[in-house]
Amino acid sequence: VISHSSINIKSSLIVVSNRLPFVLKKDPKTANLRRVASAGGLVTAVCPVVIKGNGLWVGWPGIHSSKPLYDIPESDPNDHTPTAGLKSEQVVCVDADQEIFDSYYNGCCNGTFWPLFHSMPGRASFKEEHWRNYVKVNQYFADKTLEALERCHKRKNASQSVPIVWIHDYHLMLAANWIREKAEDADLPCQMAFFLHIPFPPWDIFRLFPWADELLQGILACDMVGFHIRDYCLNFVDCCQRNLGCRVDRKNLLVEHGGRSVRIRPLPIGIPFDRFVELAQGAKKIFETKQKIILGVDRLDYTKGLVHRLRAFEMLLERHPEHIGKVSLLQISVPSRTDVKEYQELKEEMDQLVGRINGRFTTANWSPIRYIFGCVGQDELAAYYRDADVALVTPLRDGMNLVAKEFVACQINPAPGVLIVSPFAGAGEMMHEALLSNPYEIGGAADVIHRALTMPEDERTLRMSRLRRREMECDVNYWMRSFLKAMGSIEEDEIGTTVM
Ligand code: G6P
Repeated sequence: VISHSSINIKSSLIVVSNRLPFVLKKDPKTANLRRVASAGGLVTAVCPVVIKGNGLWVGWPGIHSSKPLYDIPESDPNDHTPTAGLKSEQVVCVDADQEIFDSYYNGCCNGTFWPLFHSMPGRASFKEEHWRNYVKVNQYFADKTLEALERCHKRKNASQSVPIVWIHDYHLMLAANWIREKAEDADLPCQMAFFLHIPFPPWDIFRLFPWADELLQGILACDMVGFHIRDYCLNFVDCCQRNLGCRVDRKNLLVEHGGRSVRIRPLPIGIPFDRFVELAQGAKKIFETKQKIILGVDRLDYTKGLVHRLRAFEMLLERHPEHIGKVSLLQISVPSRTDVKEYQELKEEMDQLVGRINGRFTTANWSPIRYIFGCVGQDELAAYYRDADVALVTPLRDGMNLVAKEFVACQINPAPGVLIVSPFAGAGEMMHEALLSNPYEIGGAADVIHRALTMPEDERTLRMSRLRRREMECDVNYWMRSFLKAMGSIEEDEIGTTVM
């Protein structure tokens, strides 16, 4: 049984995100559209609240259509994911001309903001055309959100508070501007919040973006702005002060803007912990080997430090040859943003590196690296998480990183494994009992892997039990409730209680 928290929300929630919680796929035979649900933690936590409060979800359905997409199919009867209960009238599709959308998504979101916000300005391109299309698509999202807001107001009952518009991530940093302006003109009151799922960079990096002030103004059109950790909040506050000259209060995390006081809040996201435990309990054993397994699971993205990771593993075999023949690295790399050149180049580089290291060390009965380039199902993933001896979560920079959390949730064995995490991931800030490893220091990283592989069982057990307890308590439902509490939309005593 998958548990959902039932939260007594006082207002309807309008979620606005680049992707809807499902994609639409065309059936090749009938040409009918059908929904394919997404499995992420965000969807698991947020969807039940949207469904229960009769809210709406505004987003892109994953396809472009020549006709406006109003007839969203209902979910498939076999769909048991949290999106299944989302009725078609609760979904508002945003679409754009394919060229404009590509320029917004691949050009500006993935080509500019993704590298810049991960503090990799050398990989960022700054093209005015992409920026113009970003502005345009954000306006489309704002228009659709206003339609959604109007619908919410029409059916709002007297006991409900004003709707909450919750905008997600770097794709939509401007939308709040127009929503605020037009909602005020049309007398459609709402509360607005923004949550960034990636890091917010320091001022010295952020200011490289030629239209930086517009971004800050867009975000500040909200009443509350959430980031994973306090450092990102402070970076944002700093940028507001230095770029826009806003009055700020660093202690209470407030920014004065346009005669309003905008609340900035650290809201570290969690995972659906219980769901991963259930998956791990039910998953079949996959590894048939007595060799120890070091596991890496990532989207194939240059922020994840994959090349550094492979080099560290190679260094482990050089420095500690006792592991040769006894330890393998299983790296699962999920294809991502394959239209972007940087991602295509990384794919080539990884293929070559895996080939070179395997060519150097493989024997008749053992290969050092098993490399999967593709998607794996949730059950299979849970089996890997459960049975791995070490998990390597070593991004160069990462907003949070949920793999670290999913790994510990699935570590249900009496003799648990060891988590290695990078200090440059949000997860590294809070998962204190993990081993920290700086991915840039290849030799040091090899030594940390060696330490993990040779750690005594009592130390592993102690570390893992503390890691698991924290993730169990601060799961994704806790994150959802913390957000709603910060918006004043649930009672104080609902925090910390999971109503099943
Ligand atoms: C990150 C972002 C998400 C994004 C995901 C996958 O986690 O914070 O907003 O959806 O990557 O990337 P994609 O470009 O495929 O949506």
